[in-house]
Amino acid sequence: MSKIAVGKIPFVDLKVQYESIRNEIQEVVNGVLEDTNFILGKHVKKFEDDFARFCGVKFAIGVGNGTEAITLALKALGIGAGDEVITVPNTAVPTAEAITLAGARVVFVDIDPDTYNIDASKIAEKITKKTKAIVPVHLYGQPCNLDEVMRVAKTFNLKVVEDAAQAHGAIYEGKRVGSIGDAGCFSFYPSKNLGCYGDGGAVVTNNKDTASKVSMLRDHGRKEKYVHEFEGHNSRLDALQAAVLQVKLKYIDKWNERRRENAQYYTELLSDVNSVTVPEILTGTVPVFHLYVIKVNDRDALMAGLKEEGIETGVHYPLPLHLQPAYAYLGNKKGSYPAAEFATKHIVSLPMFPELRMEQIEMVVDAIRELA
Ligand SMILES: Cc1ncc(COP(=O)(O)O)c(C=O)c1O
Repeated sequence: MSKIAVGKIPFVDLKVQYESIRNEIQEVVNGVLEDTNFILGKHVKKFEDDFARFCGVKFAIGVGNGTEAITLALKALGIGAGDEVITVPNTAVPTAEAITLAGARVVFVDIDPDTYNIDASKIAEKITKKTKAIVPVHLYGQPCNLDEVMRVAKTFNLKVVEDAAQAHGAIYEGKRVGSIGDAGCFSFYPSKNLGCYGDGGAVVTNNKDTASKVSMLRDHGRKEKYVHEFEGHNSRLDALQAAVLQVKLKYIDKWNERRRENAQYYTELLSDVNSVTVPEILTGTVPVFHLYVIKVNDRDALMAGLKEEGIETGVHYPLPLHLQPAYAYLGNKKGSYPAAEFATKHIVSLPMFPELRMEQIEMVVDAIRELA
């Protein structure tokens, strides 16, 4: 396999993207430093307006991070103590953590084994009198089956808070994800499709009251200085991050297109590797491939072999949330969510970022072909 071992292929490479926009970034960052207006202010407002337009919604509110975005959206929609909120066990821990932070109880629904997203046909059986909301996740940048989720939500009068932390710009039946539920939540963690240079997040919505409540919640429950209508959080997007995001937002569609091209190339090259299952794309969606996730039999052996070849991979996520010590109190057991449990043992995320080159993808696939 010496042909392959010609250099490390990173899982993500943030440096190569920074180099392509270095001058623009340094200019806007200098502008903020000269302004000395570091929290909220005009840079945040401009980014919020641009991001709302990008998502096709009326309002975007910049917050401290993606976890807070979900918590504040739930709180703004009146969800809290005594309520139950449905989400999936195959997601990043913040999805569930944010529900608890809002004061509600997490209820899991298993995933669809092919898309790794919520199996909407299993939601209804988990609904009780206490259920108030669903937090569907567009995991890996793949829009989940929102039609079904919205239909169940309407039938049972539930709120929908989309976790779009991995799916900036993805499209579901002609609309950007995040714009379809009562609120959509984004993370701008540096390695996300749209990432800043620290922590950041946003809530998007078409509802004026929800927007106003989120914007008060992020800033100690106030609209005016020194008048606090209720207790809130300190969860404001800062001006340096907003300035970075303004620059990067201009390129997000182009970067997402590159991710899709890379994904398509992986899928094409892997099509004759029988032991590999490539990602399924839901009809009517345009995914943004935050991650390119394949399913194989012996995942750990494949990862070890790729590592030896200098190819970095990841697992998203190795332990489903219902089996995490933090959620033992919910009383779920091994076997409670079989599709999520199976996926976590067999999935592996391959290197994926807009600047990944064709020959790097070829090297990864050559290595998989020999190992899988
Ligand atoms: C699916 C999902 N939800 C929520 C979050 C939380 O975002 P943040 O890390 O910005 O708090 C993340 C990112 O880690 C995520 O991947």
